[in-house]
Amino acid sequence: MFYEPKDSHGLPHNPLYACVVPRPIGWISSLSPDGHANLAPFSFANAVSMAPPMIMFCNNGWHAGGGIKDSQRNAEASGEFVFNMATWELREQMNLSSASLPHDVDEFEFAGLTKAPSRVVKPPRVGESPVALECRTWKAIELPLMPDGSRNTMVIGEVVGVYIADAALTDGMIDTARIKPIGRLGYTDYVVIDEVFSMTRPLVAP
Ligand SMILES: Cc1cc2nc3c(=O)[nH]c(=O)nc-3n(C[C@H](O)[C@H](O)[C@H](O)COP(=O)(O)O)c2cc1C
Repeated sequence: MFYEPKDSHGLPHNPLYACVVPRPIGWISSLSPDGHANLAPFSFANAVSMAPPMIMFCNNGWHAGGGIKDSQRNAEASGEFVFNMATWELREQMNLSSASLPHDVDEFEFAGLTKAPSRVVKPPRVGESPVALECRTWKAIELPLMPDGSRNTMVIGEVVGVYIADAALTDGMIDTARIKPIGRLGYTDYVVIDEVFSMTRPLVAP
């Protein structure tokens, strides 16, 4: 089949999100200007540069209660956020933290998660997560508006602190198959990384 996104795909469910998979889940913690902690998952999220290390998440659409979603609002207002890793063990808490709660409700408490202090930035990291990237907001880039007129924004941050739980390391390397990150597929599907393979790049003669 082939379709142009401006037209109907003719399928029972939108296939587009199953075409770019798996997508990492940026589990974003932030602090509101009046000090409320916030946590929410974003699957339009990824690393975009190694040096300086930069990552991004995208806010697509309004908060259910109106206005910009808290994660973007806080990342812009405070200039800081933390990109936590979501894992198989934390999948239910990750999902709970996506509930559209009022601005002053703390999703850490709602999902039963621990707020662990970050080292360089003020927003806490998820204490149970094995990896957390402390970020300073670099830029928020406005993408074309969504069909309902709501905002679509890519928030890019520079990673200024990297937390890796000692238990996540084996022989000095992050043991991905052991910590089992989860990623987003299409529909309501997810993937868990529990098997890893390695390949080295071919040498190209100068
Ligand atoms: C796995 C997962 C991925 C999500 N990815 C996104 C995303 O990329 N962009 C987005 O705007 N919302 C995404 N959401 C929905 C947000 O998590 C949800 O709107 C949340 O309430 C936003 O919270 P906040 O207002 O505290 O920022 C996702 C939800 C889940 C469960």
